[in-house]
Amino acid sequence: MSSAEVCYNTGMDDAKEEIRARLPVEDVVGQYIELKRAGRTLKGRSPWGVDKTPSFMVSPEKGIWHDFSANKGGDIFAFVMEVEGISFREALEKLAAQAGVELAKYRGGDNAVAERKARAKDALELACKYYQYCLSKNQRILQYVFDKRGMIKGTVEKFRIGYAPQDGKALLNFLMARGFKKPELETAGLLNRFGGDLFRGRMMVPFIDTHGVIGFTARIIDQGEPKYLNTPETLLFNKSRFVFGLAPAKEAIRQHDFIVIVEGNMDVISSHQAGVCEAVATSGTAMTELHLKTLSRLTQDIRLAYDGDAAGVKAAERAIMMAGDLGVNLSVISDYHGAKDPDELIQKDPRLWQEAVKNYRPAVDWLLDKYEEDLDLSSGVGKREYSDVAMKILKYVSDAVERKHYEQLVARKLDCTVEDLHAKKIANSPAKRLKKVELETASDILQGIKDNLQAILLYGNVTNIKGVELPEDATKKSELELIFETKYKNWGKSMLEDEASQLLTRYKTEMNKQEVNLLNAELAKAEEAGDEEKMSEILRKIMVLKRH
Ligand code: UTP
Ligand code: MN
Repeated sequence: MSSAEVCYNTGMDDAKEEIRARLPVEDVVGQYIELKRAGRTLKGRSPWGVDKTPSFMVSPEKGIWHDFSANKGGDIFAFVMEVEGISFREALEKLAAQAGVELAKYRGGDNAVAERKARAKDALELACKYYQYCLSKNQRILQYVFDKRGMIKGTVEKFRIGYAPQDGKALLNFLMARGFKKPELETAGLLNRFGGDLFRGRMMVPFIDTHGVIGFTARIIDQGEPKYLNTPETLLFNKSRFVFGLAPAKEAIRQHDFIVIVEGNMDVISSHQAGVCEAVATSGTAMTELHLKTLSRLTQDIRLAYDGDAAGVKAAERAIMMAGDLGVNLSVISDYHGAKDPDELIQKDPRLWQEAVKNYRPAVDWLLDKYEEDLDLSSGVGKREYSDVAMKILKYVSDAVERKHYEQLVARKLDCTVEDLHAKKIANSPAKRLKKVELETASDILQGIKDNLQAILLYGNVTNIKGVELPEDATKKSELELIFETKYKNWGKSMLEDEASQLLTRYKTEMNKQEVNLLNAELAKAEEAGDEEKMSEILRKIMVLKRH
């Protein structure tokens, strides 16, 4: 939420004000959600898909929105951050562009880095245009793109496919003639270590995020090594964060509420061409927590289109371990009808891919099957190995009921009991991870209770409760006012007082629960470290809390 991000200067506050003044909240939200007027506010459905009746409110007067089903709210910046899954910075830049506000004017003091970024961005944009032009002039490469890769014109345009000429200084000369200096092109990641063009004789696919072009992946034409060359990490391109294809996928993801993660950039492009526009990929790196976190903000239904080979199994395992923390439903799509990847399948028949993405299995089921394929479950050793890997992965299933389901499944398969499985000593305890999940969900609940309580205390004129800290931030206050007007406007004083005291009690109970959870996590750590003194100290604290 924007109020939590305080790392911008006062100049940026002015910019925020200017943008807010120019962009009505209902227009910004209205780009994503259908809003209907209901008196002084507007109503719509939660973009996070958890409401049964419209629970999303917008107050044009206050410039504030609040989602009663997801307990989220704030101003236009907070909304765009949440709905697009982007940082405050990115939201600011996006809305500034919409409002026609020039952020550079508001930047004060030392902004050498911002200036370097801006130059690199301009160079990359121009490079992209140059590559596109070079492609249009090269018959041989056009043939590769259209015939060999099966792209249609619309796809080439949408993904801004280009070609980097073979000549070692073509781009360098082009950009220098337009006023760019070598260090600037270096910053953009366009040069090799000898100061010439990094990309030569390759099909160019730009990496595009909300800022525009931030880098490229470049495929060799036909055979050669390396097959793909990517922009190195730069001020603009961070491969652990960047998700290829996300910008053009967002609309479809919002509409259909799922994401397909494929392995290759070309799979993404083919998938979009085949009408499956929910496909994205990580580029030049395995999926990181940052990737998954970004995606989990957009939908809970994440489908991995991974191979059934060892690398695919590893990747799925890693994803499950990361997903536990985020509460997403991970599944695997793996029937490619003998094709080696989605791209190849689509070349065969796009309909097969359209079907394949609907044909997914929960990632845990898929993994358990894979383990079973590789082991002989009729032997003792096979049973031990199977239960080792199975129990290791099940520790990352954070929901207790779901975990139980799988444990029973495994126990049945091995002809033993769930207790036998628990009695096994499994290395590398994931206790820390599991605790974190509980904390996160708990804090959502806590936020909802706190919002309601503060709304009543600020706007309900109640006097029975004292000593609760109230927010000073104007944005937060307007949000609370909106909550009050929506939920509590017609309540009498005594009802409000009752509600407030109940909320306070619930708040304290939840806080208490969270504290116990935190201590449990510490307990697990102390246990791992074998620190008995620490353990008994923590246990004492837990006992005290539980008595309340
Ligand atoms: P693949 O080799 O599976 O790519 O690598 P692909 O998409 O099927 O390629 P085509 O169809 O032969 O053109 C998958 C991903 O791994 C990364 C890239 O991100 C690629 O999209 N990769 C692969 C590299 O970064 N460098 C390489 O040399 C190869
Ligand atoms: Mn491929």
